[in-house]
Amino acid sequence: MRSFCVLVIAFCGHYDLVWTPTFNLTPFGTATQSSMWSKYYGPENAIRPPISNKFSEGYCTHTYFQPNAAWWMFQFSFGAAYITDIAIYYRENLASRMDGFKLYVTNTSTIPPDGYLCYEDPDPGLPNITQTIPCNQLGQYFIYFDDKGSQQSPTRYDGPVVELCYVAINDNIASESIVSQTPRGSQPASLANDGNAKSCSITKGTTVTLQVDLQKESIVIGVYITFGESTTREGNHTLYASNTSTSWQSGTILYKETSLPSEINVYAVFRYLTYESPVEGLFSELEVCEIGIVGCPPSNYGLFCNQSCPENCNGPCDLDTGKCIFGCLNGWHGDKCEQVCQAGTYGKDCLATCSTHCLYPQCHGVTGECLVGCNDGWQGFDCSQTCTDGFYGINCQQVCSPLCLLRPCDPRTGECIGGCVNGLQGFNCTEVSAIKEDIGSPVIMQVGLFTGGCLFGAVIATLVCCIIIKKRQERNKQVKENTTTETQRDDQQHYDDVKMENISTYQEITIDSTSKEYDQINAAYINH
Ligand SMILES: *[C@@H]1O[C@H](CO)[C@@H](O)[C@H](O)[C@H]1NC(C)=O
Ligand SMILES: *[C@@H]1O[C@H](CO)[C@@H](O)[C@H](O)[C@H]1NC(C)=O
Ligand SMILES: *[C@@H]1O[C@H](CO)[C@@H](O)[C@H](O)[C@H]1NC(C)=O
Ligand SMILES: *[C@@H]1O[C@H](CO)[C@@H](O)[C@H](O)[C@H]1NC(C)=O
Ligand SMILES: *[C@@H]1O[C@H](CO)[C@@H](O)[C@H](O)[C@H]1NC(C)=O
Ligand SMILES: *[C@@H]1O[C@H](CO)[C@@H](O)[C@H](O)[C@H]1NC(C)=O
Repeated sequence: MRSFCVLVIAFCGHYDLVWTPTFNLTPFGTATQSSMWSKYYGPENAIRPPISNKFSEGYCTHTYFQPNAAWWMFQFSFGAAYITDIAIYYRENLASRMDGFKLYVTNTSTIPPDGYLCYEDPDPGLPNITQTIPCNQLGQYFIYFDDKGSQQSPTRYDGPVVELCYVAINDNIASESIVSQTPRGSQPASLANDGNAKSCSITKGTTVTLQVDLQKESIVIGVYITFGESTTREGNHTLYASNTSTSWQSGTILYKETSLPSEINVYAVFRYLTYESPVEGLFSELEVCEIGIVGCPPSNYGLFCNQSCPENCNGPCDLDTGKCIFGCLNGWHGDKCEQVCQAGTYGKDCLATCSTHCLYPQCHGVTGECLVGCNDGWQGFDCSQTCTDGFYGINCQQVCSPLCLLRPCDPRTGECIGGCVNGLQGFNCTEVSAIKEDIGSPVIMQVGLFTGGCLFGAVIATLVCCIIIKKRQERNKQVKENTTTETQRDDQQHYDDVKMENISTYQEITIDSTSKEYDQINAAYINH
């Protein structure tokens, strides 16, 4: 035997006594909401204690008042869950804002919700701000939805808003089970696990049994049965645990007494739970209003189900070994998610690589945020953005020279790569030009100087031509031509340098910002 079972059988004459043996699934998933009033009212507040209606910063969620609909959503990290019921604690004294709320279980995160409507607050009247609402539905998301808004006073209408202080989303193995009874009876066996203790299965005969098929061998730590009034009390009440549906009597007897006790402790791993009528051979009646069977909660594992799953598991862990079967929370890896991501990696299973533009090759293990800052020319939390307008340097915190003709300046160095405003020159255009020209671009200015130089040379040459004799004239002309060619070559080369510098900077920015970083950002979005 590898597990521990608490058996509780309740006999009750009152139909409205509800036993709901359940486990809250909200530790296993993530909450989101339509908007956030301030950072103190995040969606996660609703899934952490205290379990109360008390409203204060950090205690409750709070969206904006929204024009059409406000919502709060929970997604299970491990896929679909069978939701038995949902407990809600809304903000104290504001039932008016809760008025008209709807609860959905869905398989998509679509808004407005596209799935099963568990509950809609009826008109007229305001809802109780503390409620436990049965749902009994399989799905991947739970959505609290408000598209009604509230009339706070004759003159004040508030748009839809969500202010949840605590939410528990509960699960119960018996609700996923199949219940059968012999004989077939006057009320169906399925009423014994429909989540409603007011509806009961009823059967009578000389040999009466009720059987719950858990559909797989399960570690059971608690069984709760709510019997109806007409159940025959006299005789031995027997409950068996077995792995076969027919020969349950060769399984384990969990309970056999002439009276119904309130509590018994046993150990059990089994698939079928079978209740047998108290007195065989004599006429007896059985009425079962609700059966609750509590398995090893998804947060526990081990022989006695008393060890906690590793804290960084992304969902339940393996019942035997405690390994995280749905992987790790972002920033962790290893079988039991006990290792933090190595330097330079982050995210789900540490598979993402820190941005190459982080100042040091390390980043936040969960978010990928560059911890120390960005390389020159890059900015943003993961240093994936170039500076776009007028900034440069580490984290793009320095302003380009106001004397640059065109923004941006070089995002790494701050150099005015687009040239300078009139009459200035230099790295960041702080030096006065030797020649003041009324031409905007330095390139045009250079062309102008070049052309002017040639004209000036030609005038000189003409004068020299007119004055000096033919021999000297030839020699002088040769000297002038050499000078012109050299000037021309110098200017052309400088012009090419400027062009090349511009092109290579441009290419670096284009390649870096579009390929790798973009993919990483994409991947990050897909993962969430
Ligand atoms: C979600 O998907 C599961 C599995 O396909 C299905 O059984 C369940 O009914 C679906 N739930 C809803 C609310 O559509
Ligand atoms: C609201 O629900 C709580 C808990 O279910 C209950 O104790 C309380 O009496 C209810 N209040 C009203 C006004 O129905
Ligand atoms: C209950 O079980 C005991 C022992 O198995 C048996 O002696 C007794 O007769 C049973 N009582 C009834 C009412 O069947
Ligand atoms: C059911 O089978 C498991 C092993 O698969 C075993 O550990 C358990 O004891 C069995 N339960 C019963 C009631 O025979
Ligand atoms: C679990 O329960 C067993 C049996 O009672 C006990 O020996 C063991 O120490 C418990 N383990 C933890 C982690 O509490
Ligand atoms: C111009 O460049 C120098 C040196 O590179 C720097 O110290 C100065 O702050 C810059 N001026 C402006 C206005 O950017």
